[in-house]
Amino acid sequence: MVIDLEKTLDQEDKEIKTNPNRRKFLSIATSVTSGVGILFAAIPFISSFQPNKKAKALGVAIKIDVSKLETGSILKVIWRGQPIWVLRRSEAMLKTLQNTNPKLTDPESEMSVQPNFAQNEFRSLNPEFFIVEGICTHLGCAPIEKLTLPSVDMGSDWEGGFYCPCHGSKFDLSGRVFSGFPAPANLRVPPHRYQDKNTIIIGESEEVVNG
Ligand code: FES
Repeated sequence: MVIDLEKTLDQEDKEIKTNPNRRKFLSIATSVTSGVGILFAAIPFISSFQPNKKAKALGVAIKIDVSKLETGSILKVIWRGQPIWVLRRSEAMLKTLQNTNPKLTDPESEMSVQPNFAQNEFRSLNPEFFIVEGICTHLGCAPIEKLTLPSVDMGSDWEGGFYCPCHGSKFDLSGRVFSGFPAPANLRVPPHRYQDKNTIIIGESEEVVNG
């Protein structure tokens, strides 16, 4: 079963909201009751929403439309009760990934969880879209996206990524953890596939998730 978020989005007065740093985020949470998707916006407290037990047990795949996702922005959805983020990365963001390689705990993602197709520097099938679970691999806190540059609180050499407020782990724009922080592995990449260039199915993959 695949829940079509695009249709539900069209039924809602969806509006990408802008945060104080002028970064735009869209958070979407889904629930499933008798096979019907129910959508609502949950910005930014997406982790407070829990789909019903039936939906969680089913682990149904969800379909998301990324055609309106602006470069540098994140789309947030819930899949199997877990926050899933889709970051649309710019060329400049992708270029930073080579700079971070020497500073990482697991730059090749050998100890991390992702589909085989995502065991690469970009940790994705299409480098433009990074799809990742928004859960820290240390003790499960919710990392915060730190995309605005320059960043006063992350330091002058920060090139964008994610920060876990619980114990300070930092992750690059591919969710790879910087060495010297408690998270033992990179953020997990869920199974997913492209139905077409703007439609991603979360929860379905032709490849096995390793790790
Ligand atoms: S839970 Fe994220 S660093 Fe500890």
